[in-house]
Amino acid sequence: MAEVIIVPSADEAGALVADEIIALIAAKPSAVLGLATGSTPLPVYRALASRRDEMDLSSVSAFALDEYVGLPVTHAESYRSVITREVVEPLGLKPSRVHVPNGALETIEHAGEDYEAAIEEAGGIDLQILGIGTDGHIGFNEPGSSFASRTRVKTLTAQTRRDNARFFASEDEVPMHCITQGLGTIQSARHLVLLAFGSGKARAVAGAVEGPVTASLPGSALQLHRRATVIVDEEAAAELANADYYRHAYANKPSWQGL
Ligand code: GLP
Repeated sequence: MAEVIIVPSADEAGALVADEIIALIAAKPSAVLGLATGSTPLPVYRALASRRDEMDLSSVSAFALDEYVGLPVTHAESYRSVITREVVEPLGLKPSRVHVPNGALETIEHAGEDYEAAIEEAGGIDLQILGIGTDGHIGFNEPGSSFASRTRVKTLTAQTRRDNARFFASEDEVPMHCITQGLGTIQSARHLVLLAFGSGKARAVAGAVEGPVTASLPGSALQLHRRATVIVDEEAAAELANADYYRHAYANKPSWQGL
C-alpha cells in the first residue's frame, strides 16, 4: 500500500516534497520530474522556488500530466501556460526541457504516442507529483479509465468540468476533451507522490488508499505501485480508517528512508 503521511498544513506537505525533490536532483542531476497542475501542488512549487539556490536544475527535465484539447496554448488556463507560470518561471527550469501533452487539434491523433515516446527517450519519470479530483481522477483519467492506459484523449466528466469552471469565465468554456498520461503511464513513474488538502478530497483519498482497487476510482491505482507516497492534511485524512496506524508508522519511520 501507499505510505500515508498526515501533515498539519499544505505548506508542510510542500516542504516535505521539496526536500525529496532536492535530494533526488542532488543524487541524479538529470532527474525527470512529473508535474501536476491544479491548486494542490502549488505549495511544492513555492517551496522549491524559495530554495532554488540549493539545486542545479540545468539538466532536469519535466513532463506534465495533461492538457486540454483545442485550447490555444496561449490561453491563460492551458496547462502549458499554467506550468510555465507556476513552475518553469519561478524555478528557472529550461523551457526546452519541460514537456506538456500537445492538445492542438491538427496533430491530436498521434499526440499521445508522441508524448509516450518523449517520456521514454528521457529515461522515464523519476518522481511524479499527483493531485486527485473529487471523483477520484488522477491526471485527467476519469472513472472507468483502464489501468493499462497510456497517454490519450479523454472526455471530461460533467463533474470535472464543473470543478474546473472556476478557472474559466463559465462552465461552457471548459473544454470537453483533454489529453492525459494514462494510468499505465503514471504507474511507470518510479515514485508517485499524491497530495490532497481539504475536506472536499476526503472521500476520494479514502477510496484511493483504502478502498477496493477499481477503475471506478482511478486514484486506487496507487495501491498497485511499489513506491507511492500520499501526503494529506487532517481534513483530507478525515475518512481514512487507518489514520492512527499511518501516524504511528510515520512517527517511527527510520530516518534513512526518505519519503
Ligand atoms: C485537474 C487536473 C488534475 C488535478 C485535479 C485537482 O482535473 N487535471 O491533475 O489533480 O484537477 O485539482 P485541484 O488540485 O485544484 O483540486
